[in-house]
Amino acid sequence: MLVDVSAVSTRATVLGTEIEMPILVAPVAFQLLAHSDGEAGMARAAASAGTVFCLSSLTSMRAAEVAGAAPDAKRWMQIYLFRDRAVTHAMIEEAMESGYEALLLTVDAPYAGRRERDLRSGFQVPAEIRAPAIEAAVGHRSLTTTEVFDLVDPSITWEDLERLCNEFDLPILVKGLITGEDAALAVEHGAAGVVASNHGGRQLDNAPASIDALPEVLEAVDGRIPVLLDGGVRRGTDVAVAVAMGAEAVLVGRPALWGLAVNGEAGARRALEMLAQELRLALALLGAPDPSALTAEHVQRRR
Ligand SMILES: Cc1cc2nc3c(=O)[nH]c(=O)nc-3n(C[C@H](O)[C@H](O)[C@H](O)COP(=O)(O)O)c2cc1C
Repeated sequence: MLVDVSAVSTRATVLGTEIEMPILVAPVAFQLLAHSDGEAGMARAAASAGTVFCLSSLTSMRAAEVAGAAPDAKRWMQIYLFRDRAVTHAMIEEAMESGYEALLLTVDAPYAGRRERDLRSGFQVPAEIRAPAIEAAVGHRSLTTTEVFDLVDPSITWEDLERLCNEFDLPILVKGLITGEDAALAVEHGAAGVVASNHGGRQLDNAPASIDALPEVLEAVDGRIPVLLDGGVRRGTDVAVAVAMGAEAVLVGRPALWGLAVNGEAGARRALEMLAQELRLALALLGAPDPSALTAEHVQRRR
């Protein structure tokens, strides 16, 4: 209290890049399902918010098309390792040529989780929503969603991460771990950062919340690489808590997607603006003029 908060900034740094707020747009598959603006609209919304847009490898628009539509967006690309490594490589190369600056290797989805609501509703990705980046990488063959998921290699190990880090001159973050042991392995095998994440609770049932896993991940990483977090971030105060605990930034999946579904690019922009405004207010009420002023002293664990 009684800190001058007449000028509060949400600016932060992630992986050495300055961004307007420590809130990134998480990789979310098939965004044309939500709105015809698709990934291009989401990337433009991220650019307006001055933050990083992460493209899913299950994108419904090509990486180059998204880059062309949103040249000002800071772009990262999420990847899976496919059984045919040439497919992964082709996708990474397209991403690099299109100015994507980091890769997120998702490690918590060797298989898709059992999503009971989808099973009950009989949800299927409609045939007109394609995965053009993957289709191009497999030699312009059209693939059903099941065929796309079957391309993912469930046999990958930490050695594959190390190989990938040596093969590509891009920072590679490991997304989807929730234990200190895995975080330490990620550091040892060359990761440039980790995202503490349980895939938004969509993969392993009973997995801990990422915010509860954050302390042990931070302890294991011990400041050697940045730790980010995603899952359940819904308000500016959630962002402040994660950053106060030691996360460099958070990612949001559904909040931005819901915005896109409601009103395309403008809806996603609005969702990100709301988070920015809430974070600014949370910082002011915490007596923190910017996110870097947040410390563990600002949070208290529930007893
Ligand atoms: C509809 C949907 C699709 C997703 N697709 C991907 C994906 O293709 N790749 C990936 O790494 N994560 C994917 N995720 C997980 C998100 O990147 C992120 O980890 C998660 O959504 C964060 O939780 P939140 O939605 O509560 O913010 C997806 C999440 C949702 C909700």
